[in-house]
Amino acid sequence: MSQGNSEAERSAARRDAAVRAAVEQGLIGPGEPVVGLLDVAGIRASARALREAFEEVAADGTPVLHAFAAKAASLVPVLRLLSEEGLGCEVASPGELALARAAGVPPSRTVLDSPAKTPAELREALALGIAVNADNPEELSRLDGLTRSAPTASPLGLRVNPQVGGGSIGALSTATKTSKFGVALRDEGAREWVVRAFADRPWLTRLHAHVGSQGMPLELMARGVRETYELAEEINRAVGRQQVDTVDIGGGLPVNFASDVADPTYRAYARLLAETVPGLFDGRYGLVTEFGRSLLAKHGTILARVEYAKSAGGRAIAVTHAGAQVAMRTVYAPQSWPLRVAAFDEKGLPKTGEPVPQDVAGPCCFAGDLIAENRTLPRLDAGDHAALLDTGAYYFSTHYAYNSLPRPGIYGFATTPDTVRFTPVRAPQSLPDLVTESGGDYATDLSELR
Ligand SMILES: Cc1ncc(COP(=O)(O)O)c(C=O)c1O
Repeated sequence: MSQGNSEAERSAARRDAAVRAAVEQGLIGPGEPVVGLLDVAGIRASARALREAFEEVAADGTPVLHAFAAKAASLVPVLRLLSEEGLGCEVASPGELALARAAGVPPSRTVLDSPAKTPAELREALALGIAVNADNPEELSRLDGLTRSAPTASPLGLRVNPQVGGGSIGALSTATKTSKFGVALRDEGAREWVVRAFADRPWLTRLHAHVGSQGMPLELMARGVRETYELAEEINRAVGRQQVDTVDIGGGLPVNFASDVADPTYRAYARLLAETVPGLFDGRYGLVTEFGRSLLAKHGTILARVEYAKSAGGRAIAVTHAGAQVAMRTVYAPQSWPLRVAAFDEKGLPKTGEPVPQDVAGPCCFAGDLIAENRTLPRLDAGDHAALLDTGAYYFSTHYAYNSLPRPGIYGFATTPDTVRFTPVRAPQSLPDLVTESGGDYATDLSELR
């Protein structure tokens, strides 16, 4: 089921080399006390593993588009790298679409899903020819009007909620009875409505379901895909032709945040899908996937300087520069989003002292701003570094502006046995930018309003 240990060990060795080089090369220091690091070789390897996993189970010639969920790493160079690896992009807002376009992702490999697309967004998507999945009956009516007024090359689909149930994280479970996404298939009359909606619209050719993200059991995800496939078969039987020609199965492969091993693997999930829904892979259907977290999480590290080491009530506390601003989910929902923390010394070498229980705290002004509570680690001292592991997905795209802490710089890295080379992925947010974002251009306007 799991990835070989040696791949995990190689990935950890690259990360350790990058941490040391980031300190030596001054990427992190007193003036830049927190940075993000991305392992380019690791990202490429995950993209390859995804492609190969589906190639192994899909009939020869099956069109498969792996559209990376941009929300997981809304960084133009990352979208570009993945595009070069043959992936596309799933976008869920005008901003994400702009990033995909800036990265050069072709319209034919872009998919727009969002529960609240405006008429202007729909119009733009249809003009560009990118695939669109309608979320609900009202959106489908909008598409009726738009497709009547101008021809489009966009493949058009409908998102459904197979209502197979949720996983361990409620906020990311999208196939519950009352989830806000898609047409709730088990609601009274919904299935019949969907079949009719397709029969009435020969241009509607796709079904889409994203059953959930982190915390979903694979079997439940596979059941959601099976329900979606069975609906596609029912529609095609009802209309007497292969009108639904593509099934978009969403993303959601969970990530192991407990060790360096990638588990479950794409191969395990693809095989489970092929066993659960063999008809989906026999060549009659094209496939779209929308994985996010599983492609990036293990290849990112947030590295923060320890500013002070102190204690309170007998508890050791390392006060670092990584807190809620870079790890909001972990700080506010630590049970759902625990992170491994690795201790490095002032030179960026793994710290080896006696492990002691300690809090790893962030810089934000509220008591709960803790990345790890009572965690046993070699004692972190001022000038040391705390590395938040597996933070390549969602952490860089969910910056939290509290306390006006700037977005940190992010650097991609590539290693050889003797060197580590870095390249910027996102510049650190400057204080003038931060002031502008916070209304700096309108400093006197409120006082002048009477
Ligand atoms: C529609 C859709 N597709 C794909 C994803 C990506 O999920 P994951 O990052 O868990 O693979 C999400 C996540 O929210 C989503 O909402």
